[in-house]
Amino acid sequence: MHKVTLIPGDGIGPEVTSAAVKIVEAAGVDIQWETKLMGQSALEKFGDPLPKDTIRSIEYNKAALKGPVATQIGTGFRSANVALRQSLNLYANIRPFKTIEGVKSKFENVDIVLFRENTEDLYLGIEHMVGKDAAEGIKIITREASERIASMAFSYAVREKRKKVTCVHKANIMKLTDGLFLSSVRDVAKKFPDIEFEDIIVDNACMKLVMNPEQFDVMVLPNLYGDIVSDLCAGLIGGLGVAQSVNIGAEAAVFEAIHGTAPDIVGKGIADPTASILCAVAMLKEIGENAAAEKINYAVLKVIREGKHVTVDIGGHATTEEMTQAIIDNL
Ligand code: NAI
Repeated sequence: MHKVTLIPGDGIGPEVTSAAVKIVEAAGVDIQWETKLMGQSALEKFGDPLPKDTIRSIEYNKAALKGPVATQIGTGFRSANVALRQSLNLYANIRPFKTIEGVKSKFENVDIVLFRENTEDLYLGIEHMVGKDAAEGIKIITREASERIASMAFSYAVREKRKKVTCVHKANIMKLTDGLFLSSVRDVAKKFPDIEFEDIIVDNACMKLVMNPEQFDVMVLPNLYGDIVSDLCAGLIGGLGVAQSVNIGAEAAVFEAIHGTAPDIVGKGIADPTASILCAVAMLKEIGENAAAEKINYAVLKVIREGKHVTVDIGGHATTEEMTQAIIDNL
């Protein structure tokens, strides 16, 4: 039996993670879920958006399935997501974006895997007021973290028989910080002569992604650009409802949908569970349950391809529950 931490999260988090749990159980995988709180729900119950008990559970179980958690904009507690990634040193955020047959999108052959550095950059949150009318934030980039994410991206490219790695940066303006990121990735690229390497300035990358995303393969980015460009990529394959990710380090992996708590649809029963279910598929592969992972993946893609029992965001009329049941019926 496996033990996995389950963080239902806030907003639509409990709706979509419970769909994933139901499907994993229906696929016959023996998992003991250790349910832990994080975000607004943890703040209300324990006065702490990221209780130590939640961190310890992930440290111990090594794998977690996580729903989105709410973060206040401009004020309030520091992002629990950022704190979680830093405290468990989940240094890589890996986000696959592949066209799904049956999901309406502008492109037919998107197949990008994005590697986002997850521990530094402006996300360290080192900022302060300078007087009352100016604010200052500090962007930190280190060679160690940049080489680490680059090595992961290139090793993945070799393992998965990918052809090209693209480094995204703004080193023309941020010559020291993004310059260091770029030169670190370049150094790593030299160790992988069979993989084509290119670099591109982030604004140009965005333009090319919306014009012709098929030209990109594996991408590696510092934290902030990785965050923004990955939502753009989610749009290329049909929206946030179907985009998954994993935060991974040497000791643990946290699987979570890219989307947030979706306050506009919470409680309506119409949230798309696809992203969370695909996260569960990736999590099952990580813990060695490949057969169940394949079975679920097949059922999800079949239900989406047929289009009869899918949620509104991907062109259907089904509720979260109806879509979940249709996937279970197809296992
Ligand atoms: P959001 O992803 O929650 O919503 C953006 C739009 O996408 C909304 O119209 C929403 O209804 C739709 N959407 C998102 N997921 C969907 C799904 N599964 N099915 C159908 N439609 C879906 O982004 P927003 O509004 O910027 O953020 C809301 C809250 O979520 C904020 O507090 C933010 O900090 C938090 N957040 C948390 C994340 C995490 O914990 N990993 C990631 C992103 C945002």
